[in-house]
Amino acid sequence: MKLAVLTSGGDAPGMNAAIRAVVRRSIFDGIDIFGVSHGFHGLIEGSIERMGLSSVADIIHRGGTILRSARSPEFFTSHGRERAIAQLRRYRIEGLVVIGGDGSLRGGLALARLGLPVAVVPATIDNDMFGTDICIGFDTATNTVIQAIDRLRDTATSHERIFVVETMGRHAGFLALTAGLAGGAETILVPEVAWDMAALCQRLLRGLERGKAHSIIIVAEGAASGADIARRVGDVTGLDTRLTVLGHIQRGGSPTAQDRVLGSRLGHRAVELLLLPDAAHMVGLQAGFDVSVRLHEVMDQRPCLDQRLYDLAQVLAI
Ligand code: F6P
Repeated sequence: MKLAVLTSGGDAPGMNAAIRAVVRRSIFDGIDIFGVSHGFHGLIEGSIERMGLSSVADIIHRGGTILRSARSPEFFTSHGRERAIAQLRRYRIEGLVVIGGDGSLRGGLALARLGLPVAVVPATIDNDMFGTDICIGFDTATNTVIQAIDRLRDTATSHERIFVVETMGRHAGFLALTAGLAGGAETILVPEVAWDMAALCQRLLRGLERGKAHSIIIVAEGAASGADIARRVGDVTGLDTRLTVLGHIQRGGSPTAQDRVLGSRLGHRAVELLLLPDAAHMVGLQAGFDVSVRLHEVMDQRPCLDQRLYDLAQVLAI
């Protein structure tokens, strides 16, 4: 049997652990395993190479993806997908593991609809994939944001300033909410929850009145522009306000233990799935167990932000 693996979309810490698990589990079962570089773009171009045990040596602790990643508009045309399938046929590859986020899920489903067995491994720091409790990369990114908040808190206290911290999360606030709660932020703005500038400023001024020396506002990029919030908060309250945009720092770095273990479990499970007939699944973790869900069932579905967690953050930031 021959299988292939690729990573696509935004990279996430722990992708390498997943690639390693796919390669090693395949070799364990006597399967020929190929790596496709640069995601679906590389698949179209035929950037496909056989992988061996040593291809994945010494990578479990590394961020990014050794297979490189890309976003490929061409793949989402029928011509692009036909070229991709033709490349897989050329190598007699019978199944594909796709590691990535939402776009990767769509790409995987498109190939599955053309008859290719596909297993998608959810990996995105946004953590916005339905069918799994957590995606690879989320834990590491959350810890990266917390570290940044802790550092900013020191300088915020020293100067008695307001700090606005913009996190990633185009459509989802999981990263901002979890890091904001764990970092003790005073205010958390996420795309899923409506917010109001006047109320935000009133809250800041109330905090100041009762002796708070500083405040941290976490803004998910999908909720508002951090620059805009910092300017408006500064204008309305007259408080000394600074902005930090964390940007791609959140995507890099050595994966946490949780992301390494998650990558290993889900990569391994993806190969197991491809050994079964009719694979068109995403693997995931639900209530601590490895699960698989059918791609068409999770497509176009969005996980809900935990409102209780949001309310908790509000209460604790009183
Ligand atoms: O989807 C992951 C993500 O990091 C988003 O949070 C962010 O908006 C986007 O990717 C950035 O994409 P790019 O690296 O292509 O600028």
